[in-house]
Amino acid sequence: MKKVQDHYFKKARKDNYPARSVYKLKEMDKRFRLFRPGQKVLDLGASPGSWSMYAAQKVTPSGFVLAVDLKEPAVSFPGQVRFIQGDVFNDAEVVQQIKNLAPFNLVLSDMAPKTIGIKITDQARSFELAMEALHLGRLVLIPGGFLCVKIFEGPDVEQLSKEMKTSFTRVKHFKPKSSRAESREIFLVGMQFQKKIDHDVSDHEQN
Ligand SMILES: C[S@@+](CC[C@H](N)C(=O)[O-])C[C@H]1O[C@@H](n2cnc3c(N)ncnc32)[C@H](O)[C@@H]1O
Repeated sequence: MKKVQDHYFKKARKDNYPARSVYKLKEMDKRFRLFRPGQKVLDLGASPGSWSMYAAQKVTPSGFVLAVDLKEPAVSFPGQVRFIQGDVFNDAEVVQQIKNLAPFNLVLSDMAPKTIGIKITDQARSFELAMEALHLGRLVLIPGGFLCVKIFEGPDVEQLSKEMKTSFTRVKHFKPKSSRAESREIFLVGMQFQKKIDHDVSDHEQN
C-alpha cells in the first residue's frame, strides 16, 4: 500500500501540485463531470492549493475560483483564483465575503479537522465541517449547481446524505482510488441543486 501513496505523492511533485489530493478531485471530475469552462467555483479548505489550481485550469479562461482556508496556500495561485484566509465555520466576515462573490456553479469542500486520533470525535468534527459546507452551498449555489464534500466515514455519513437529498436531485457517495489506504474519508457529490427559500432563514434572502 505504501507504493500507492508514493506513486501519488511523487506524481503530484512531478505535475507541480502542492498536494496529492488533486488526484481525488480528478477522479471525481472524470466520474461526475464537475467542471466546465467559465464556471465560478468555491473551494473550501483550499490549502495547500492543489484543488484550486486544478479548478482554475478547468474553468479557464473566463471562470473564477474562490479559495478559502484557515492557512495560507503553499503556492502562488494563477489570476483566476482569489484567496481568502479565515474560518468558514466561525468567521462571519469570511462568510459575508463568500456571499458577496456568489453565486457559484460548484462548491467543493476538502475541509478536514485537526484529528486527535479519537475516531468518534474526529468523525463528529468532520461531520460539522461537511454540514457547514452544505449550509454554505445552499446559500451560494445556482439552481442546478453541484456540491462535492468530504466527510470521514461513520454513522454521520447517512445523516449528511439525507440532508443533501433535501437540496439536490441526486446524491452519490464516492471513495477515490487515490485516497490513502488508511484514510477513512469519503466524498458525497450532490448534483442539480434545487434552491428552496426555507433552506436558510438568515439574511441571505434579503441581500
Ligand atoms: C486536506 S486539506 C485540503 C487540501 C486541498 N484540497 C488541496 O488540494 O490542496 C484540508 C484543509 O481544510 C482546512 N480547514 C479545516 N477547517 C477549516 C475551516 N473551519 N475553515 C477553513 N478551512 C478549514 C485546513 O486548514 C486544511 O488546509
